[in-house]
Amino acid sequence: MSEPVKIYEHPNYKGVYVVELEDGSARLATKNLVPGKRVYGERLFRYGDSEYREWNAYRSKLAGALLKGLKELPISLGSRVLYLGAGSGTTPSHVSDIVGKEGVVYAVEFAPRVMREFLVVAEDRKNIVPILADARIPTRYRYIVETVDVLYADIAQPDQAAIVSDNAKFFLKDGGYLLMAVKARSIDVTMEPSEVYKREIDVLKSNGFEILDVVHLEPFDKDHAMVYAVWRRKA
Ligand SMILES: C[S@@+](CC[C@H](N)C(=O)[O-])C[C@H]1O[C@@H](n2cnc3c(N)ncnc32)[C@H](O)[C@@H]1O
Repeated sequence: MSEPVKIYEHPNYKGVYVVELEDGSARLATKNLVPGKRVYGERLFRYGDSEYREWNAYRSKLAGALLKGLKELPISLGSRVLYLGAGSGTTPSHVSDIVGKEGVVYAVEFAPRVMREFLVVAEDRKNIVPILADARIPTRYRYIVETVDVLYADIAQPDQAAIVSDNAKFFLKDGGYLLMAVKARSIDVTMEPSEVYKREIDVLKSNGFEILDVVHLEPFDKDHAMVYAVWRRKA
């Protein structure tokens, strides 16, 4: 297996690293908050005094968005993030690496079976607050979640933009950012992906989001896009 020859911080994304391998290829990685521990079978790289975890763009839509040139990454050391649709923790674990011990990831997941797997990840990572709840009902977790800098949504629901907007009203600071993965085909199989993106983006705009960028995730993830927006709280 090819070994790393060099690891350095990504020139555009703070807290994200580029691993250059012996065979000339490059990988994304984050600095492992829990050295020695893997989350989804990813490769671990030791370099200098630190350990890094490969961030697989075929497994994580956020990594795919970065490799597709997302304008900027609004998540950094110390960020407070509300993450809707934690799944078994693949992307949340990398977000946890990036925000570090000073940051926090409030991670909402409504499927108990999936949450059981996610709890194993959260157990090791003290900056993750796992919340078993339906993202449609933010009042259920309003006493747990504080005001956040970033809202991340990956719940693949037909009304995801509306759910996101409700959560923003409760938790997102004025001037805070949204990253939303749109899974076009699962929302409506009869519509072309571009129509679905447009409809979801219109809902976001009517709720006070200004769209900063949209990147399509192919070849890493067919029929998905990542929407990046800033939130202006209405008075
Ligand atoms: C695509 S997976 C998430 C993958 C994860 N974001 C990652 O990148 O590692 C979507 C998850 O959203 C969860 N989900 C869907 N609707 C939800 C809702 N209304 N509230 C909370 N979780 C929801 C599903 O159970 C599923 O685990």
